[in-house]
Amino acid sequence: MRKILIATEKPFAPAALKKIRKIFDKAGKEYQLVMLENYSQKNELLDAVSDAEALIVRSDKVDAEVFEAISKLKIVVRAGAGYDNVDLDAATARGIVVMNTPGQNSNAVAELAIGLAILGLRELFSGKPGGELRGRTLGLHGFGYVARNVFRIARAFGMKVIVYTRYSRGAAAAIGLKVTNSLEQLYEKSDVISIHVPARGEHLKSVSYEILKHLKDGAVIVNTARKEVINEPDLVKVMEEKPNIKYMSDIIPDNENVFAEKFKGRYFFTPKKAGAQTAEANIKAGVAAAEQIVAFFEKNDVTCQVNRW
Ligand code: 3PG
Repeated sequence: MRKILIATEKPFAPAALKKIRKIFDKAGKEYQLVMLENYSQKNELLDAVSDAEALIVRSDKVDAEVFEAISKLKIVVRAGAGYDNVDLDAATARGIVVMNTPGQNSNAVAELAIGLAILGLRELFSGKPGGELRGRTLGLHGFGYVARNVFRIARAFGMKVIVYTRYSRGAAAAIGLKVTNSLEQLYEKSDVISIHVPARGEHLKSVSYEILKHLKDGAVIVNTARKEVINEPDLVKVMEEKPNIKYMSDIIPDNENVFAEKFKGRYFFTPKKAGAQTAEANIKAGVAAAEQIVAFFEKNDVTCQVNRW
């Protein structure tokens, strides 16, 4: 029996679980699906993972302690895009394959990004006169799967879209998207900035004062990526200097109290990361994770592996 553990502090939609279960049932009797949902103690994860051969998670922390608790684990699949929650070095040291499910939840996150932009421009629906998307300039910081969906939706709203990307310049130019020469230029020209870079390497705390100071007063910053890409004290400083900048984020920042104290009506934070929390995204990412695990065991397929050796 291969134990496949789904460990999700934030559970998948029931419809997604039904489909995931079907995939393992179809794959054969040796697959046994075990659920650990809504857990609050790390020990629960450590116990459940100890005899699992495969693990499916979302933003759940899979750190060195988790890898120390395993005895049979061969593969971890992060059902989603960002895998900053998985300790890749610890996995690699034990020869465990780590995968993500690229692109599967990107439309859901993109729709939230647009929703947050509207919420910001409309003064949080407080009754104060707001602004519209049409005719405004949207700056995409990064051009991965989510940003490409934001671009598609924003264009339909009549926005002018520009992008700064180092790695996808060709892809952006190929669809006629203007790529700015620098990140500073992107921030300077945009009415709405939407951040789409991973919480890794050069991107950590990369949205710093040196970048943010170029924003127009009145700009809306939308962060559906990770709080770790923002230099929070620098953001606070710029919001103090430019009293009409808004920060709309799909994650509570470290210093939420500072925002509450200083920036009433200029921020919104989802209480729990909500970008990918739709039935559709759960189904797509969950099904992809299950299929990737079956393909890994049956065909040694490592197409979506993110740790290399
Ligand atoms: C991702 O990286 O795929 C998104 O941030 C979604 O994360 P979640 O699965 O925790 O909702």
